[in-house]
Amino acid sequence: MNPRHFLTLLDLSGDELRQLIQRGIELKQWQHEGRIFEPLKNKVLAMLFEKSSTRTRVSFETGMAQLGGYAIFLSPRDTQFGRGEPIEDSARVLSRMVDAIMIRTFEHEKVELFASCSSAPVINALTDQYHPCQLLADMQTWFEQRGDIRGATVAFIGDGNNMCHSYINAAYRFGFNLRIATPEGYRPDAEIVAAAGALVTLLDDPMEAARNADLVTTDVWASMGQEQEQAARERVFAPFQVNAELMRLASKDALFMHCLPAHRGEEVTAEVIDGPQSTVWDEAENRLHAQKALLEFLLT
Ligand code: CP
Ligand code: NVA
Repeated sequence: MNPRHFLTLLDLSGDELRQLIQRGIELKQWQHEGRIFEPLKNKVLAMLFEKSSTRTRVSFETGMAQLGGYAIFLSPRDTQFGRGEPIEDSARVLSRMVDAIMIRTFEHEKVELFASCSSAPVINALTDQYHPCQLLADMQTWFEQRGDIRGATVAFIGDGNNMCHSYINAAYRFGFNLRIATPEGYRPDAEIVAAAGALVTLLDDPMEAARNADLVTTDVWASMGQEQEQAARERVFAPFQVNAELMRLASKDALFMHCLPAHRGEEVTAEVIDGPQSTVWDEAENRLHAQKALLEFLLT
């Protein structure tokens, strides 16, 4: 039987995603109460990182430990991945040994190829194209604080990058309206946008995107792998900063989210990210709980 994978949010139905969010909320409560819950005893997750990470690594590793299982950190520096062993072979071998594989890499096609040869579930922990695990945490944070997100208006300000693409998928699956403001030339992928239909609007003006929005979110201007474009991007993206002036246009009780790491003074001001509308610390914590729900869903 082919395993279920989680390469994008679209791999789960809207109902499955909502159940997963509710389960994340429940597992969080259990964790805070100190309740032991170990459904993944003797299960092993391999975590393959070709890019840096703080939150993703620690949340998956801690999540597996809390669920009674074990996680192995693998980097290209000290495995055969970095020496050119074919992805197909790595997938066949690893998936015969471990129960699930989490991958953070560059090209999205790499995780697709890996998954197509893997007999164990594969989780996308960020590619150049998508970051679905982050959206589980963002949605859990919204559901905890505001209830269901169906019909709400979300403003994504900045680069049409992996986070933006996953927000588009989330708009489609959860049924919220998404306004995306990017500089020209940095728009999200047209096919991903088209799949979400009328729920997504592309704009040039961040102010227009933010007006009466219920949630304002942004991400770094230069993602991992784009470090050499940092200076050029700072110039292009300067008008797309989320600051107090922009937040004033949003709805009065709007939340602010950011997947982190953040660059204060670039895509967001300290005043906003450290201010009362910001939910970034809950959002970061929820990586742990939402992914525990995901691991339970894929492995039991
Ligand atoms: N948000 C996020 O994925 O953070 P890390 O890069 O630290 O894993
Ligand atoms: N867009 C960012 C997200 C980091 C979690 C990147 O890909 O570097």
